[in-house]
Amino acid sequence: MSDILQSPFVREMAKTASNMYSHGWDERNGGNISLLLDCEEVKEYLDTERVLRTIPMGFDASSLKGRLFLVTGTGKYFKNVEDDPETNLGVIRIAKDGCTAELLWGFKDGGRFTSELPAHLMSHMARLAVDGGQRTVMHCHPTNTLAMTYVHTLDEREFTRTLWQMSTECIVVFPEGVGVLPWMLCGTNEIGRATAEKMRDFRLVVWAQHGIYGVGKDLDEAFGLIETVEKAAEIFMLTARLPRLNTIDDSQLKVLAEHFGVNYRKDFLNL
Ligand code: 13P
Ligand code: ZN
Repeated sequence: MSDILQSPFVREMAKTASNMYSHGWDERNGGNISLLLDCEEVKEYLDTERVLRTIPMGFDASSLKGRLFLVTGTGKYFKNVEDDPETNLGVIRIAKDGCTAELLWGFKDGGRFTSELPAHLMSHMARLAVDGGQRTVMHCHPTNTLAMTYVHTLDEREFTRTLWQMSTECIVVFPEGVGVLPWMLCGTNEIGRATAEKMRDFRLVVWAQHGIYGVGKDLDEAFGLIETVEKAAEIFMLTARLPRLNTIDDSQLKVLAEHFGVNYRKDFLNL
C-alpha cells in the first residue's frame, strides 16, 4: 500500500490550506475544506474496510452514503496542516444510516471533523444535483469580503453587481453572482441548510460578518472563485470612501459577458 501522506489528495489539500493561511483567510482555526474522494484512488493508500472510529454527524446525508471525503478537523489551525496532515485532516465515509461518519484515517489526536460539516455535506449534495463533477467545498474568512458585509447592503443582486463592477474578470468568473446569507449562528444544521439552498443557484455564498463558501470540481476552482471575490471586495474597500469617477457600467458588463459567452444573471443588471 502506498503512503497516504504522498497521495495527491492529501498533498494538495495540505498545500491549499497553507496557501489559504498565507492569504490571511484562515486565522487561528478559521475555515474548513472538504474534498470528495475517488474510492478506487483511496484504496491505493488505505484499507477502506478498517474503520478507526464512528462519529455521529447529527444530520442526514443519505444521498452521500458510501462516499469518502477528506476534511479538515474542528479547532485545527490551517497553518499547521502541511506539517502534520494526519492530526489536522481526516478521511471519513458516510455510513449506511446516512447520519454517521466512519473515520478511516487521520484526526490522530482523537479529534473530529469540522463543526461546519452540515454546511459542507449539504452543499456537496446540492451541488452534485446540478453538477456531477462537483468535489470541493471551501470555507474561509477573507478580510475584505467580511469588511464589505459591514458597509454594503446584503441584497445579493446589489452585492453581486458591486463585485462585478470592481474588476473586469468578475462577471466572467462568477456570472451567476454570489448568494448572501444574513448573520446566522455558525456550525449548525440550520446554516447548513440555508447555505445549501443558495448553492442550488450559486457556487459562492457569503456569510455576512463571518466569511464565504466556494465550491468547485477541485481545490483550485473553489480557491480561484474565492480569490476573485476577495480581490473585488478589496478594491471596493479601497475605493468605498473615495469619490467614484469611473466604473464598469451595466452595458459594459453585458458586452463582457456576451463576449466570453457566459450565462450571467441578466436580472442583476439595470438594463
Ligand atoms: P472549525 O474549526 O470547526 O472548522 O470551525 C472554523 C470555522 O471557520 C467556523 O465557521
Ligand atoms: Zn468560519
